[in-house]
Amino acid sequence: MRKKIVAGNWKMNNTLQEGLALTFRIIDLLKENPADHVKVIVAPPFTSLHPICELINKEGVIHLAAQDCHQEKSGAFTGEVSSDMLFDLGVKYVIVGHSERRHYFNETDALVLAKAEAALDVGLRPIMCFGETQEQRSRGEHFDAVKKQLENSLLKINPADIAHVVIAYEPVWAIGTGQNATPQQAQEMHAFIRSTVAGKFGKNAADDILIIYGGSCNSKNSKELFSQPDIDGGLIGGASLKADEFVQIVRSA
Ligand code: PGA
Repeated sequence: MRKKIVAGNWKMNNTLQEGLALTFRIIDLLKENPADHVKVIVAPPFTSLHPICELINKEGVIHLAAQDCHQEKSGAFTGEVSSDMLFDLGVKYVIVGHSERRHYFNETDALVLAKAEAALDVGLRPIMCFGETQEQRSRGEHFDAVKKQLENSLLKINPADIAHVVIAYEPVWAIGTGQNATPQQAQEMHAFIRSTVAGKFGKNAADDILIIYGGSCNSKNSKELFSQPDIDGGLIGGASLKADEFVQIVRSA
């Protein structure tokens, strides 16, 4: 059986002190009442990764992700952070291809692939994000849009590495809008993604790969979303910034 993942994407929120307090509270709540069936991940901004990593190393219970990485190992890329640097800190996962990166920073499928490969190269697990826009969905093109993203990135991953990839389905129209995909809408897309993975990497790889849902997921809708057969947990934005709310979502998985 696939283990569920619930990951908190803090985006550009929380100073170091706020981030430490939030992490501490999440760990406390999970120690009080463990949720061992779920892998819990937090993704703070780069500036907080190191101290939060030290806290996590000491306390255990949760795991650490970065929100992005550069595709090159090192070099003259002012302002950027490589997967090597993240791995060296003790980071285990890295989000790549989030729709905000695609939209505000013009990230293409090819770049998302290069970032995922850079992560895999050093032993980081990429959380690769895919999802259609509102316009694509209203035109009935959501499956085609996601398929194209998958073909241009995920399906080009070395088959030897696919077991280390986590997929996040995040419809753009659901992110930060309060309008989550219905469990049925999400389930049919997750099933579609899983069958696309099976077509390229085989049934075993598809059965094992984790596909998590993101987009206005909160403690009120998470249980029904996570109980769908192909939804293996969630990538949580706004609702991951409050420890109690986030841990409630973890417990619903
Ligand atoms: P949201 O964000 O939960 O605030 O909609 C999800 C995400 O962007 O990963």
